Amino acid sequence: MARHLITSALPYINGIKHLGNMVGSMLPADVYSRYLRQRGHDVLYICATDEHGTPAELAAKERGLPVDEFCAQAHDAQKAVYDGFALAFDYFGRSSSAENRDITQHFARRLNENGFIEERAIRQVYSPADGRFLPDRYVEGTCPHCGYDKARGDQCENCTRVLDPTDLIDPRSAISGSTDLEVRETKHLFLLQSKLQHEVEEWVARHEDDWPQLAASIARKWLNEGLHDRAITRDLDWGVPVPADTWPELAAEGKVFYVWFDAPIEYIGATKEWADQDPDHRDWKSWWYDVDTAVRYTEFMAKDNVPFHTVMFPATELGVREPWKKVDYVKAFNWLTYYGGKFSTSQKRGVFTDQALEILPADYWRYFLIANAPESDDSSFTWEHFTATVNKDLADTLGNFVNRVLSFSKKRFGEEVPAGGEPGEAEAGLGEEIARLLAEYEGHMEALQFRKAAASLRALWSAGNSYLEEKAPWLEIKTDQEAAALTLRTAMNLIHLYAVVSEPFIPASAKTMREAFALPDDTATWSTPDEARSLTKLAPGIPFTVPPVLFAKLTDDDLETYKERFGGEAA
Ligand code: 2FM
Ligand code: ZN
Repeated sequence: MARHLITSALPYINGIKHLGNMVGSMLPADVYSRYLRQRGHDVLYICATDEHGTPAELAAKERGLPVDEFCAQAHDAQKAVYDGFALAFDYFGRSSSAENRDITQHFARRLNENGFIEERAIRQVYSPADGRFLPDRYVEGTCPHCGYDKARGDQCENCTRVLDPTDLIDPRSAISGSTDLEVRETKHLFLLQSKLQHEVEEWVARHEDDWPQLAASIARKWLNEGLHDRAITRDLDWGVPVPADTWPELAAEGKVFYVWFDAPIEYIGATKEWADQDPDHRDWKSWWYDVDTAVRYTEFMAKDNVPFHTVMFPATELGVREPWKKVDYVKAFNWLTYYGGKFSTSQKRGVFTDQALEILPADYWRYFLIANAPESDDSSFTWEHFTATVNKDLADTLGNFVNRVLSFSKKRFGEEVPAGGEPGEAEAGLGEEIARLLAEYEGHMEALQFRKAAASLRALWSAGNSYLEEKAPWLEIKTDQEAAALTLRTAMNLIHLYAVVSEPFIPASAKTMREAFALPDDTATWSTPDEARSLTKLAPGIPFTVPPVLFAKLTDDDLETYKERFGGEAA
């Protein structure tokens, strides 16, 4: 048994996320956590809302709410959706917590003591009409590169170039629209990442061979371009305040840390939030501090987050000069597209996580998304692909198998696992096949190869169908009751095995399958390939019930309705 710390990139507070966010971070982290827990490991899965920065302030303003109130509501709204998706976090925290504030300030003080923070005067856009500096997205204007006239101060959405607010042509305030802007000098804290370049390089070199290629290559690219010193404070009302004991002048001016400085620290902060809820039984430091090889730490994220997690956050942790746990494995994802184009909130393209749950239960989405996760490349969501996958894999291959076997057995043998018949060649062959596929499935899960794991799971389900077709108990029963009983009992053993091994992907349906049999809970524990081979765990005489249809088949009408509601064609 090992100790596994798992985090998924913190979703921004500013709105409900779409399916692309879900598949690139929280969902695979949940599948992996569930798998490891089932295998008996000690797992801590932590996530939180990322609540600071200009997006939060601007979203609050749009809703006409004070930012703290907005964040509290938006956190609950996101949490409700994640509960709906059955994400089994050990804790889902908030980066605006007191715990994160304390740890972030501690990190900053230590970085300062170690000579990695410097105060520098820089030129910033100031708006006399608003009476404040306008960082990042608070300034809008024309992009100097492509001429797009709604570019934001941090980035141009049109050409994706990263910008500084002072780069914009014809700048205006995003708050008041005022164009009466000036550039004033003001002091900010800079993290001297250039001084840490060498150490980060050494650290990455020791880890990159273990990382998937996507994560390793992005880390390399950033290191090759050189680590630059960067401003880690902002003139905002909302954020972790610069500690007054160390920087009295900046604290008095109301400066807060930049959102990307405190967000990754919230992985630690949220663990402390978790522990603070039950301090007698939970020890947050035992997951984070001085645990070098005692804990294995895996992070999940989309590729745009990789530089922050492989280079910048490790640089911060190294500069603190305390033994904080650093990531062991970075599982990075490409993009999920919507019909080959971008999911877009503003253009209402794509499917948001709350809408997805309005249409169908979580298991449909969980299975489809993981089976098509953008692991080695971008992958495209289409309603045609989604409905075809649900119908084939979930409704036909799994759901229909479960219902056919249990209904038929109930009709012919009553509501107990039927007795009779001795396993023969067909059962031995099936057992071999199941053991082989289960070993394959485990291997892919251990390697965090989710698409391959889904394919192995699907193959396990298919093996049951082939067996059933070959044995045809509906024919056997006409001439040999015992033979039919054996076939059905073996098939029920498969259902019970599916209930256990499918749990990481489709937890609700797995529970339904498991509860079809009147068994004590401990029989839901994992079977190793060797144990699974015999297919006799479920003994004759165990009572069962026939569950309702596990997965509804989606019709052409459903498909048309979805496409009409969400727009279903290439961008
Ligand atoms: O890109 C994003 O959605 C960020 N909110 C991710 C933050 S991850 C972590 F470092 F906090
Ligand atoms: Zn541009």
